[in-house]
Amino acid sequence: MRLSGPDDVTVRSCPGGPDLVRGATLVVDDDGVQHEVTRPVVAICRCDRSSRMPWCDSTHKAVRPR
Ligand code: FES
Repeated sequence: MRLSGPDDVTVRSCPGGPDLVRGATLVVDDDGVQHEVTRPVVAICRCDRSSRMPWCDSTHKAVRPR
């Protein structure tokens, strides 16, 4: 995963949940697919179980961590 945006992009990992990314304008997933970011803060899935990858859809709350 790669993030693009202004110099002030920040990432905060939520224990057992997503990475909260602030200030990014583009997320490039592991397959090289680019996802435009239109919100000030987005949640990036870390559990690999979201049905809306790369975005967190809260599935992590219903499954055990891997
Ligand atoms: S971290 Fe939330 S669905 Fe994966």
